[in-house]
Amino acid sequence: MNAIHAVRRLPLVLAVIAPACTRGDDDAEPGASSTGESDAGASSGAGGGGFDEAAVIARALAYRDDFTQVSDEPRASQHGLADTVQVWASPEALMPYRALDPAGTDAVAWSPAAMLLKEHLDAGGVVSGYTVMAQGDPDSSSDGWWWGRLDADGTVHETGQVGFCIGCHTTVAARGWAYGVPLDNRR
Ligand code: HEC
Repeated sequence: MNAIHAVRRLPLVLAVIAPACTRGDDDAEPGASSTGESDAGASSGAGGGGFDEAAVIARALAYRDDFTQVSDEPRASQHGLADTVQVWASPEALMPYRALDPAGTDAVAWSPAAMLLKEHLDAGGVVSGYTVMAQGDPDSSSDGWWWGRLDADGTVHETGQVGFCIGCHTTVAARGWAYGVPLDNRR
């Protein structure tokens, strides 16, 4: 039900936000490769430069083992993929992510294993899926970041250099590609 909801909603949302982003494929549906080359690019990193996409996905799905929740209250989703979201950071990402002021412009230096995960909650507050950023992708066109969208049950959607993720996040590329949690919503 939630997945179907998200699938129907995404193209609409992308159409709405397109003017705010550098690219806005109206047909960038979940499951479709939004870069056309991201899948090949992403998987070729495995075993090559020490970046293992399967391991990154496994670590993302086990985020509650060692990630820290940075946001306090669920806030309205900017992705249109969920009702509300909470953001978690891996131990390597925690200090720089907490230092990131969404209103600021300072560049952030991320360590190679840094991961950021946005938990998607449905209207009932139940976790339905995740968007994930992971550092260390040797094929990255976004300063080392790898991008992925997962369902809570582990279903993997877009991965790698995902055009619609990068299209929005490029607006904050100068400060490390992450938006950051508003200072009044930290725990
Ligand atoms: C419509 C523009 C948009 C798109 C498309 C988008 N993001 Fe975001 N993303 C945002 C905004 C704005 C925030 C900060 C506000 C929030 O957390 O909702 C954010 C926050 C995040 C965060 C928390 C870290 C941070 O930036 O503070 C992660 C992780 C993330 N996005 C991953 C992704 C991934 C992966 C994709 C693609 C599957 C994606 N995003 C697509 C706009 C977007």
